[in-house]
Amino acid sequence: MRRIAAIVMSLAAGCGSTTELSVFGESFAEVGIASSDMSDGWAIRFSEFVVAIGDVRVSGATDAALPGWSVFDIAADSAGLGHPLDALDADLHDGGAVHYRIARPDKVVGGNATDAQVRALRDAGVAIHVSGEAVRGMQRVTFDWDIPMDLAYDCDIDAVDGQTGARSVELTIHTDHLFADDLDLEPQLAFDALAAADEDGDEHVTPLELEAVPLAGLDAYLTSRQDIETLWSFVGNLATTMAHVDGEQSCTPRFVPDAYADSTAGVDAAGVDAAGVDALGAGAALFEEHCVSCHEAGGPTLATASPGYALFRITRGGAFFPYGSEMPAFDGLLSGAEIAQLSGYLKTLQTAP
Ligand code: HEC
Repeated sequence: MRRIAAIVMSLAAGCGSTTELSVFGESFAEVGIASSDMSDGWAIRFSEFVVAIGDVRVSGATDAALPGWSVFDIAADSAGLGHPLDALDADLHDGGAVHYRIARPDKVVGGNATDAQVRALRDAGVAIHVSGEAVRGMQRVTFDWDIPMDLAYDCDIDAVDGQTGARSVELTIHTDHLFADDLDLEPQLAFDALAAADEDGDEHVTPLELEAVPLAGLDAYLTSRQDIETLWSFVGNLATTMAHVDGEQSCTPRFVPDAYADSTAGVDAAGVDAAGVDALGAGAALFEEHCVSCHEAGGPTLATASPGYALFRITRGGAFFPYGSEMPAFDGLLSGAEIAQLSGYLKTLQTAP
């Protein structure tokens, strides 16, 4: 009898333990941002808002992960419902977490974007492509931006009382954030500074033109971050704030992609790598050769001690947001073993007395 009860229980639990995921850019992406929502009278309409989403994982009473990347044009009309991503065999009824990453797509398996849109992201090596127009009275300025970015998000999902059947979770992309004037506290939406960046007067504002505008000259633009020096860097960092779930629920950034997260960097505690090389000695020599030109001998202080972070940053460099730096990607310049040796060496610098 007890066995039958257990089977019935597990059937009941299995029933409706699906989580249906969708991706939504809100009415801002689909319909536009009205001048009444902007602080300076411009109105925005997107013609494309293409975003690549990967490393999707759902964890609750049961867990599941979605392989590959999905690319969405969230400016496309979904009648306010969002675009279906996939249904995962995971139970979130008692709450849990959703994880996803916005980065240049690897193998693309889903989404509503056209092949041409996917190819354009891939060719540019970026996570987001956005184009559209801003209009105010007789003024009209278009924009067409490729935004390089690589950042993941951990999002808490609340329990739902009494809900049965499939649970739905929306990955909400706050597209209006791209026009905010404050990265910290009380942002207003504005386009004046972006329009004024149109240096060549062709009524089309490019990333290069935004890059040429020093943030220090823009009184209305606020950030507590010292390393954001240009208007383009500001916009790129705004892009990293767009990811939410279920509308307004915010998410915590996670810097290390899944592909690097479990890495032990191939160097053991005694500093010997898989090939039996004195990896720390080799790492120190590599650092001297390739890194000291920018990093002082003490090495960079790592923003996060998460395993795999140093490996990720050395492999991919910094030419994408939220970093937006000159640091070159060493993928292809150094071997995987050499990058592991460097990463092991950097860790010893962190823990040195
Ligand atoms: C052209 C200059 C340049 C070179 C060469 C360079 N870096 Fe960097 N690196 C930077 C800058 C600038 C930053 C800070 C901004 C950022 O995070 O991208 C940085 C950041 C880092 C970080 C992340 C630090 C953190 O806490 O976020 C790591 C790790 C790193 N570098 C390792 C290396 C290693 C190892 C090498 C050599 C193989 C190297 N870098 C070569 C410029 C460089």
